[in-house]
Amino acid sequence: MHSNTETSADNMSISSSPRVMTSSMPHAESEGPTETMIRIEGFNAWYGDFQALHDLSLHIPKNRVTAFIGPSGCGKSTLLRWINRMNDIVPSAHARGTLTMGELDILAKSTDVVRLRRQIGIVFQKPNPFPKSIYDNVAFGPRLHMKLTKNQLDELVQWSLEKAAVWDEVKNRLHSPAMGLSGGQQQRLCIARAIAVGPDVLLMDEPCSALDPASTLAIEDLIFELRQQYTIVMVTHNMQQASRCSDQTAFFYNGKLVESGDTETIFTKPQEKQTDDYVRGRFG
Ligand SMILES: Nc1ncnc2c1ncn2[C@@H]1O[C@H](COP(=O)(O)OP(=O)(O)OP(=O)(O)O)[C@@H](O)[C@H]1O
Ligand SMILES: [Mg+2]
Repeated sequence: MHSNTETSADNMSISSSPRVMTSSMPHAESEGPTETMIRIEGFNAWYGDFQALHDLSLHIPKNRVTAFIGPSGCGKSTLLRWINRMNDIVPSAHARGTLTMGELDILAKSTDVVRLRRQIGIVFQKPNPFPKSIYDNVAFGPRLHMKLTKNQLDELVQWSLEKAAVWDEVKNRLHSPAMGLSGGQQQRLCIARAIAVGPDVLLMDEPCSALDPASTLAIEDLIFELRQQYTIVMVTHNMQQASRCSDQTAFFYNGKLVESGDTETIFTKPQEKQTDDYVRGRFG
C-alpha cells in the first residue's frame, strides 16, 4: 500500500535529468531491438475498495511510443499516474504488484519520488501552467536541476517552446503571465515545460484533447521526434493518433489489459474481438 503526501503540486509536474537538450544535439538511433524501460507485472490498483486495475502485465519499451487506448473509465490514467507515483496524493489510492524502471522499484516506500519524477515527466489532459511568466514556466525545472548560463537557459527555453509548436505565438510575450494564454497554448507550454528538463520517460495523458488540428499535428511530429531520445507513453481516445504516433498499443477495458502489441497488429489484426470492435469504433 502506498499513499503519502510528500510532494507538492509544483514538483509533480516537473521532471528533470542532467541532460540538456538543444537543437544541435545528435539524436540516438531508435530502430533495432529495444530494451524494456518500464516493467509492469501482476499490477493491481485500488481507490479504497474499488479495484480500478486488475492484474496487468505490460512492458514499456525504451525509445518507443506506447499508446494506451480504451473507453472512458477503463483505468488508463490510473496506470499512467502510478508510473510516476502521482497517485500518492490520492489518499484512497493503493497498489500491489511489480512496477519497475530498470533496477528501481517504483512502488517501494523507499523510492525517492522527487527523483523519480525527474526521470518520468507527465503532461496532463488539462493544462496546469504555474502562475508565472511563460519564460519562467519553461525555465522552472532547468533552474532547479541544471546549472546553465543565461544564454544556455534562453536557448533551452526557445528550443522547448519551438518543439512544442508554440514559440511563434509566444516569442514576443515571453515575460507575460502564462495564465493569459489560450487553453491550447497553455497545453503546448506545459509540454515545453516537461521536455525542457529532458526526462527519460514522458507520460502524456490525452495531450492533444484541447488542441486544434494544426497544433495536434505539430505535437504528433514532436512525439515522433522525441521517441528517439525518450520513452513515451501516451493516452489517447483518437484512434488515428494512436495509429499515426505509436509503435506499441495497449488496449484496456474495465480495468483489464485486454491486449497489447505492435500498433499495426492491434489496429489490423488484433487477437481479441473486443479490441477489434473498439479500434473500429463499434463501442466506447
Ligand atoms: N481519485 C479517484 N477516486 C476514486 N475513484 C477514481 C479516482 N480516479 C479514478 N477513479 C475511478 O477509477 C476508474 C478508472 O479511472 P481512470 O481515470 O483511470 O480512467 P481512464 O481510462 O483514464 O478514463 P478517461 O478516458 O475518461 O480519462 C474509474 O472508474 C474512475 O471513476
Ligand atoms: Mg483518463
